[in-house]
Amino acid sequence: MENQDANNIISDVRRRLDIVEVISGYIPLVQKGKNFFGVCPFHDDTNPSMSVSREKQIYRCFSCGASGNVFTFVQEYEHITFREALAELAEKAGISLPNISYHKKNDSYQKFYEVYEIANKYYLNNLQTNLGKKAKEYLRNRQIDDSMIKEFGIGLSLETQNDLVQLLEKKGYSLNELNEIGLANENHDLYNGRIMFPLKDLSGRIVGFSGRRYDGKKENKYVNTKVTPIFQKGSILYNYYDAREFVRRKDQVIVMEGFMAAIRSISVGVKNVVSLMGTAMTKEQMSLLKRLSLNVILCLDGDDPGQHATLTHGEELENNGFHVKVVELSDGLDPDDYILKYGSESFQSLIENAINYGDYRIKSLKKNINLNSNEEVSDYINRVLLEASKLTDEIRRELILKTLAKEFDIGYNTLEKRLSTYLEKNRPKQQVEEKKVLLKKAEKRTKYELAEHYLLYFMLENGTVRNYFEQGKFNFSTEQERFLASEIVYYYKLYGTLVPADFYTYLQDKKELLQLLDDVLTLEVGEISNKMIDEYIRVVKENSVNLEIERLKKTMKEKNDPLEKARIAEGIRKLKMGSE
Ligand code: CTP
Ligand code: MN
Repeated sequence: MENQDANNIISDVRRRLDIVEVISGYIPLVQKGKNFFGVCPFHDDTNPSMSVSREKQIYRCFSCGASGNVFTFVQEYEHITFREALAELAEKAGISLPNISYHKKNDSYQKFYEVYEIANKYYLNNLQTNLGKKAKEYLRNRQIDDSMIKEFGIGLSLETQNDLVQLLEKKGYSLNELNEIGLANENHDLYNGRIMFPLKDLSGRIVGFSGRRYDGKKENKYVNTKVTPIFQKGSILYNYYDAREFVRRKDQVIVMEGFMAAIRSISVGVKNVVSLMGTAMTKEQMSLLKRLSLNVILCLDGDDPGQHATLTHGEELENNGFHVKVVELSDGLDPDDYILKYGSESFQSLIENAINYGDYRIKSLKKNINLNSNEEVSDYINRVLLEASKLTDEIRRELILKTLAKEFDIGYNTLEKRLSTYLEKNRPKQQVEEKKVLLKKAEKRTKYELAEHYLLYFMLENGTVRNYFEQGKFNFSTEQERFLASEIVYYYKLYGTLVPADFYTYLQDKKELLQLLDDVLTLEVGEISNKMIDEYIRVVKENSVNLEIERLKKTMKEKNDPLEKARIAEGIRKLKMGSE
């Protein structure tokens, strides 16, 4: 019942708003025929590849494939959760949101969030008591003052074994639950004697902690919350939630390794920063970055692992459409050390003067070569030229050639010739790759797939086709199509009508179905006639007969009994006749 109410409110909000007007508030749209077009804000583009349909109340980008309804647009554009987008749009629509739960997923983890809130408050308080004196002193020595402690919610777990568990048990949580939630280990606290840094998820809720030793011992410096249903280190970026606004203003995000680095940087006013919490970067973290900005400044630690990660992540990011710049920190310092040593102005100027990733790569190639070895030098020059050939900026390429010519006393023309052979090699490959992507997006559906997609489209609009499906007059060949079809039928039973934009929200947790729905909705369908319906059903049936025949042939091969073989053969013959 609760979910039912929530769904009604969601579709009320959706219905009172026109997607064309909402999206126009973010990007300029121009009408062409029935649809409106604009430059897609979700990928790096200059062409108007995003189309917005007033009729269907959905948008879709033909270049990057982004699609959805008003909610998803605002969510993606503002980097906020569904809940936040709903609140914002409800206000715009003049609908007040009653305090009901509408997101199944959130409900089941409500307890997790509550417990983390309680634990955080407890840790915060500990740090302010007498028992927190030593920890406070440690923080003060590291120049973390009270306002920073408050801003970042820094707390303290006590040396004792069981205080938090006991407190939470008193509040009614069982040991089992606390183990599952990730705050207890067997029958005692997970943390003791550590300074606690809360870790937030994408919506700003505390979902875990990182605890740092402050007794000076090196081993197990940090302990993080174990993996739980709401926490996984590789699925979040430290400070993601709080950085969003600052990143948007600058359209640039600084990526660091440690959260102490992020905290320091923020405290000196550089706030468009997130941290990886280690040198590793997962695919998930990369897509989180994409939601923030395509302009990344890598500012990892200046030690060997940091430099190595800068090279690999930089490449990975560039390959995924980011523009990457690099800040190099001297003497193996991390941003925290650097700021404390050289001051915030010096740090800010490092950020402003970050170098392009391509240049960083070239620079780093030179680090380990022996300048007295002709072989190494020529190998180096070749690698630099290869890197240069990947640059799109001709001026930068020319500068590189000039520098090399001067540095190694080699003819400019010789270098240019070599560079152009590399440029040649790159060119056709790039074009082929571009083509491949385009091909993938273009109509690649087989005749049968197309027919099934048409029938799904019809089901969205046409009661007769829905009845045919329910009566078993035709069926789909894949599980996903069948699933989508039954969701369509179910949705009609529930609401009596279907607007694609609302159906999107209804399906929002079922990503595979959304993709399929997208493919279906790209079809250009005019008036639906009985003739079309019959024709597509015929094609779909032909396909299922073919599939059945194939299946029977396979079983026939596996059988040894001639009688059984004959019986199956007879079945195949009948099927073939029936389909003629
Ligand atoms: N990290 C971790 N587990 C460890 C070590 C490090 O999760 N055993 C993560 C932490 O999130 C940390 C980041 O990796 O923020 C970077 O580690 P490191 O550079 O060692 O820590 P600092 O951020 O420099 O912390 P401190 O200055 O307190 O030593
Ligand atoms: Mn450090």
